[in-house]
Amino acid sequence: MTSLLSGFNMADTLICGIDIGSSKIATVVGVKSEETGEVKIIGFNTTLARGIRKGLIVDIKEVTDVVEESVEKAERMAGHKISQAFVSVGGPHISSLNSHGIVAVSNPQGEISESDVGRVIEAARAISLSTTRQIIEVIPRDFIVDGQPGIRSPIGMSGVRLEVETHIITASSTNLKNIDRVLDDLGIENQGFVFSGLASAEAVLTNTEKELGVVLVDVGGGKIDLTMFVEGALSYSSSIPIGARHITNDIAVGLRISLDSAEKIKVFLSKNLNNKKKNPQINLNELNLEENINEVSLKTLVDGIIAPRLEEIFKLVFEEIEKSDFSQLVPSGMVITGGGALTVGMLETGKRVVGLPVRIGIPDKVTGLVDETVDPQYASTIGLLLYGLKNIMTEENAGFKNFGKVLRDFKLGGSMGRVKDFFKQFIP
Ligand SMILES: Nc1ncnc2c1ncn2[C@@H]1O[C@H](COP(=O)(O)OP(=O)(O)OP(=O)(O)O)[C@@H](O)[C@H]1O
Ligand SMILES: [Mg+2]
Repeated sequence: MTSLLSGFNMADTLICGIDIGSSKIATVVGVKSEETGEVKIIGFNTTLARGIRKGLIVDIKEVTDVVEESVEKAERMAGHKISQAFVSVGGPHISSLNSHGIVAVSNPQGEISESDVGRVIEAARAISLSTTRQIIEVIPRDFIVDGQPGIRSPIGMSGVRLEVETHIITASSTNLKNIDRVLDDLGIENQGFVFSGLASAEAVLTNTEKELGVVLVDVGGGKIDLTMFVEGALSYSSSIPIGARHITNDIAVGLRISLDSAEKIKVFLSKNLNNKKKNPQINLNELNLEENINEVSLKTLVDGIIAPRLEEIFKLVFEEIEKSDFSQLVPSGMVITGGGALTVGMLETGKRVVGLPVRIGIPDKVTGLVDETVDPQYASTIGLLLYGLKNIMTEENAGFKNFGKVLRDFKLGGSMGRVKDFFKQFIP
């Protein structure tokens, strides 16, 4: 296929992301401009998900069908075939730990080389892991040279002992294998699994927030992904098995209506309540609900049904933040993404229950066909592109040459130096 888009230069690199969510599968095709280094979206599609629960594949055939549908539509829009993509993975099967590595610097003159850095990260990732788990991310948080911490890029420095603090994210290998099977079936090469909470962070957090300390909370349909950045570095990742779909369920049960109608009311509220004078009765005429409900009491719906669930959600988020041991180190507060971010009362409840400042994160760091994607529910989708931009391995930069770049990113962007499996190739 050739590009339908004028101005697309063949030297530019195509970056694709497939965001496999519990509510939707979103595919995005972007182009990295060699001139500006920016990503421009040239293709996008979102399709209702089937066969996914809380981030886990429960019906592989259904998932393959929807991913195929979404990919084909995005390909058609972009005028490009998707042969490789970064893929999101999230849900309660995700866990994280911080691991320490230590090596003796190999050069007798004590100059730290790329290979020492590779070895020390390898040492940090040598954690004991059950056969059912797999590492998907190893991020250096800090290097320590001869006992001195706070070193961002040790290559070329003098020292005899090199240590590293890393953040490691692991996932269920069964789920990863299932995702790979879906991609294999569609002839798409997986360029890397990206924790969806990290992808969302890429899309909406500022460097200042990461440096000061911040919590990213992605409230999806079936689960909440959480990442915490402390002193610029990713320091905690986890996922809570509850999502915005629970709010829809509560409305359906509370008002004795179908899930479809409940979803419509929920979305209608978030779009209409904030900018209108608050009447005690909400007029639902324009929704044409099958149950013929024309109005509902605001108090029943918002205070009685939605608020208690939000309260529960934020209590769980609070517990997770406490569990991280970094709860005192995130003065920038919480940034909320995911479709659930738009729920009525999200900001107020979050602020009250967790006791931190809160803002909604909108993915607006890319250009091109962005009308649809400037919405918190596509933070993780757009994040896949931005993550890809930093980590893409072309033939020229694969291997150790890319290593310098990894460390540069680490230095510039704070924590985002990703150390991929490719280190394995160089380390016996
Ligand atoms: N305007 C809105 N107001 C309130 N809720 C909304 C709005 N738009 C979307 N949602 C809710 O957001 C949820 C979907 O969010 P999102 O697209 O982030 O989930 P997902 O990525 O598919 O799932 P997950 O990340 O949990 O696997 C749904 O429950 C939906 O009802
Ligand atoms: Mg999601």
